[in-house]
Amino acid sequence: MYSKEQTIALQQQSQNFLKSGVEVLTSKDEIEVLRNILHLHEYRYYILNDPLIADGEYDQLFKLLERTETAYPDWITKDSPTQRVGKNITGNFATVQHLVPMLSLDNSYNSEDLKDFDRKAKQAAKLDEITYCVEPKFDGGSISLIYENDFLVRGATRGNGVAGDDITSNVKQIRTLPLSAAFSKYGLQQVEIRGEVLINKNNFKKYNEELIEKGFAPLANPRNAAAGTLRIKDAAEVRRRKLEAFVYHISDYTLLPGATLPEELKTHDGSLKLLWELGFRSPQKEKEVFNNIDGVINYCNEFEEKRDTLPYEIDGMVIKVNEVALQERLGMTSHHPRWAIAYKFKARQATSKLLNVEFQVGRTGSVTPVAKIEPVFIGGVTVSSISLFNEDIIKEKDLKMGDTVLVERAGDVIPYIVKSQAELRTGSEKAIEFPKNCPVCNSGLFKEDGEAVWRCINIECPAQVVERMVHFVSKDAMDIRGFGEAIVRKFYELDWLKDIPGIYKLDYEKIGSLEGFGKKSIDNLQQAIEQSKQQPLHRLIFGLGIRFVGETTAKVLTQRINYLMELKEFTQEQLQALEDVGPKVAGSIVHFFTNESNIEMLHELESLGVQMQNTNKQLSTGGNLEGQTFLFTGTLPTLKRSDAEAMAEAQGGKILSGVSAKLNYLVVGADAGSKLEKAKKLNTVKIISEEEFLKMVM
Ligand code: IVH
Repeated sequence: MYSKEQTIALQQQSQNFLKSGVEVLTSKDEIEVLRNILHLHEYRYYILNDPLIADGEYDQLFKLLERTETAYPDWITKDSPTQRVGKNITGNFATVQHLVPMLSLDNSYNSEDLKDFDRKAKQAAKLDEITYCVEPKFDGGSISLIYENDFLVRGATRGNGVAGDDITSNVKQIRTLPLSAAFSKYGLQQVEIRGEVLINKNNFKKYNEELIEKGFAPLANPRNAAAGTLRIKDAAEVRRRKLEAFVYHISDYTLLPGATLPEELKTHDGSLKLLWELGFRSPQKEKEVFNNIDGVINYCNEFEEKRDTLPYEIDGMVIKVNEVALQERLGMTSHHPRWAIAYKFKARQATSKLLNVEFQVGRTGSVTPVAKIEPVFIGGVTVSSISLFNEDIIKEKDLKMGDTVLVERAGDVIPYIVKSQAELRTGSEKAIEFPKNCPVCNSGLFKEDGEAVWRCINIECPAQVVERMVHFVSKDAMDIRGFGEAIVRKFYELDWLKDIPGIYKLDYEKIGSLEGFGKKSIDNLQQAIEQSKQQPLHRLIFGLGIRFVGETTAKVLTQRINYLMELKEFTQEQLQALEDVGPKVAGSIVHFFTNESNIEMLHELESLGVQMQNTNKQLSTGGNLEGQTFLFTGTLPTLKRSDAEAMAEAQGGKILSGVSAKLNYLVVGADAGSKLEKAKKLNTVKIISEEEFLKMVM
């Protein structure tokens, strides 16, 4: 898609823009270059998974484009990277007709079925040999796209196969789909493309963790999440869920006047290559072509084995006759084409019995119902325990003790109950009673307005104390190897470990007296605990288990500080100005840092040697503002506060969170309040305008 020379040239131009620090571009040529640069970086990031610049640098370039387009709205193009952001999305989706009906595929489940398919195809075609193209069957939501004169003009759901919902604005949020592609180079005026929208496993997991942290039930699986997201009427939310798409079929096209059919469109693998060349994510690397069915079968088996190692869900393979002319000869039934078949991997669903429901208390006091089921073997593991998340899910799924339930485990995604089979009830099933009191400490349970989760609010509740420590030592937090949940629990029960600082005060001699603890394992544990004192600051912040502060927020906070205790000074308003920090998260952080016992705990950790400086923060390399401190207050006339802060930091300046003797510059916008008053009194602070600030950074 991009030659080496083009890539190098655009990369060089990216660096020039980044270094220039210009506020807005003033020529149409420059804005065109900037758009090309952003397209290249999106392609490298989303399609090739091999970015050339840091996320922050991409954001800087994107903002430069946004500012320029605000200044020169006439220069906005339909396919500008800024145009993904959907505006004015209201009302129901309009229904649109597909150019060609979206059929589904016939299914096969074993090699015999595939041989049968091959035999029938050869018979119908009167051929001895057929070439097949084999590719993954992506497990998401199917979409149909239309590109006209090189621009993406429409995206639709499958709907009833003949007509679907017009979801163009949502489809534009999918970064793996180009807003324009040079189909005209191939003589194509209009194309209709089929593809599958996915959420990769990692983003799905992160998204669900956020939902759980916020007290919502997680989405069932990546397939439902992707398909459901396509129908959300809030483009910003769609963007947040980080959808991706593979495109795998050109279902219709019209040629430009005088053009001839491009060679690529004569075979299926040629179409995949054409799409790939135009910047789409087609299964170009995943597909393989075979001229015999045994090769096809082997390839399907190979893929099934590596299914769990893929970053996205697939539920099988699709086998397609490679020659398009032969596809046309074979035609279709009313349901499915005769030239293609799906090969479905072994089911990851199983039927089981709901034996009991236990209630577990988490680190934030949340009481989670956990279903104990008759053990079933699904997708390579035995499942006997399934989280039900909250009371509403029990009601929604109409679960009763003793029910027959359908269980699914999609890849490495946590298993879940799809449904109960009410028609199989015998009458002996019992209702599931949610407890009124904490099953561990017996305090009353509370539910906040708008939340689905019941909580024990006794912060001394032993379950919470233990879970907080388990979280602190866990892999994504302080990562203390060998200090698993069982050991935390055991030390707690023995009264050797009562709180987080206690982790750094363990009596290793006593531990040596425990059965199962040899010298080697104690040395390893001691070493792991010692090493954890040097973990990067964001891990410590995440490990503190502040409600709603997940790994991402911990990293955002870390970028803002040099020392953990600086967070004490942050106001609700300052926190909310940070990326992805809403009122709930900000409130929880303020709450944590105004609680005296938390502060005491942090001081104790520090005195035990846990490092609280931000050693990972990029040290600026001698910019104009090296060693100077800044604070922004009030509404600045042109800059967003976060942009102004980033500009100061890029030049070596440091942002402070409050007015103090350490502050050099207070940059003042409209309606500045108490900070301005305080700065005036201090006499040491230079009070400047945005204009003066801009002169300093330019
Ligand atoms: S080809 C006429 N290829 O599977 C061609 N479909 O059960 C029809 N799917 O509705 C589709 N990956 O949503 C095709 N590589 C792939 C696919 C694929 C997933 C979905 C698609 C279709 C369903 C059929």
